[in-house]
Amino acid sequence: MSRMRTVHRCGECGATAVRWAGRCPACGAWNALVAETLAPESAAGAGLGGCAQPLSEVDATPAAVHPTGIGELDRVLSGGLVPGSVTLLGGEPGIGKSTLLVQALATMAGGGDRCLLVSGEESSQQVRLRAERLDAVVDGLWIVAETSLPAVLAAVDQIDPAVLVIDSIQTMIDPEVGTSPGTVSQVQACTTRLTQMAKSRNLATVLVGHVTKDGSLAGPRVLEHVVDTVLSFEGERHHALRLLRATKHRFGATGELGLFEMADRGLVDVPDPSGLFLGDRRTGVAGSVVVPAMEGHRPLLVELQALVTRSSLVQPRRSGLGLDVGRLGLLLAVLERRVRLPFGKFDVYASAVGGVRVVEPAADLALALALVSALNDVPLPSDVVACGEVGLAGEVRQVGRTAPRLAEAARLGFRHAIVPVSSPDPPEGVEAVRVATLADAVAVLRATADRRAPARTRPTLRSVALAPR
Ligand code: TYD
Ligand code: MG
Repeated sequence: MSRMRTVHRCGECGATAVRWAGRCPACGAWNALVAETLAPESAAGAGLGGCAQPLSEVDATPAAVHPTGIGELDRVLSGGLVPGSVTLLGGEPGIGKSTLLVQALATMAGGGDRCLLVSGEESSQQVRLRAERLDAVVDGLWIVAETSLPAVLAAVDQIDPAVLVIDSIQTMIDPEVGTSPGTVSQVQACTTRLTQMAKSRNLATVLVGHVTKDGSLAGPRVLEHVVDTVLSFEGERHHALRLLRATKHRFGATGELGLFEMADRGLVDVPDPSGLFLGDRRTGVAGSVVVPAMEGHRPLLVELQALVTRSSLVQPRRSGLGLDVGRLGLLLAVLERRVRLPFGKFDVYASAVGGVRVVEPAADLALALALVSALNDVPLPSDVVACGEVGLAGEVRQVGRTAPRLAEAARLGFRHAIVPVSSPDPPEGVEAVRVATLADAVAVLRATADRRAPARTRPTLRSVALAPR
């Protein structure tokens, strides 16, 4: 007869150790090992029941997807949920995972797909109240408030849905695994069992997974291997904006970004994010530059802001919100050494407006210009965007996907783009102002803002950039 066994399992990577240790021997995480009692081996999974066949005879007709009816979610899923697939939706508590899924289920149920929501966290009544607010009480949407895996499997047998949502996987309990809910063994065992069911019943399954403080899913990497798709739902708690990304997707690209706004009646698609980000922009203010950033395949126009004040500290402050603080430091060093600007005496605050993170090097030039604009108290004309990577020698380098970036800028009415010398030609309506170095870009900024010059002779962006130095 097999015996119960105790192991210590890492909550981060899922590795096991016979003895407890302060640090996981596999991934090095501190205080992550938790004692677990393992059930006898017979509780292991039963496989998918597949039999071998020549690859050429495998039916490759793609299964019809279930569009969720939520535009931004379908965009990230490349069309919708695939029958028989398992999707993990991860995000911090309170970010809106349950809201998004109730809205999606209601739309799918309204379209004729029978849907089952398993709520392990909220009672049926709580879910109903929320659904009323979201206008999501529709025929064909079933709910069971349950945490026991066998009961969930029985409910699926009873209802025979086309789409199943488990909210959340961390609350599910497989009684054959002798540990408490939320442990890696439980999460892993329940996911494996639900995945088998999804494949055998051709059931599109979505698992909600809460994310721990440091950003990883609890019981994380083990799950990411098992499921077909991993979505992550993010956003700043104090902003209404929510971003949805696929970090793994077996049925399509992973680069797509979905954008939502959390409103009084649930999540609303944001099909024109650049318009949203620039909506409250004040023009003619020093320290503000718009960058055409890329989020996945999607160009996003984001305003970068900087504020520079004289410092009384030995080591001046450098603060970056929604930006890479390391790159901010690098740009300040380049501006100090290559353009001879005295940032060492100033506190610097910089941010990306609207609750997005802009960390790509393509934002260097715009951020540097925002810093100089703030330092000199000189605003840039309001119809200018800037994009380019800045090197340590002060050179401005070409970045990828310039065409969609500038096309988006043109669509939103921007007329000038400060870009690297080697940049491809911009679309019609946008004039390129080519700069080889950060010093060139600063010269452009100063010249365009030289209000003392009479209007007729005041340099335009173009004449400055092309003038011999
Ligand atoms: P929820 O979907 O419960 O988050 P999660 O399942 O990821 O933990 O979302 C909870 C938050 O969303 C809560 O703070 C209230 C807010 N909210 C709205 O602002 N509007 C709404 O219509 C709903 C349903 C929730
Ligand atoms: Mg929830």
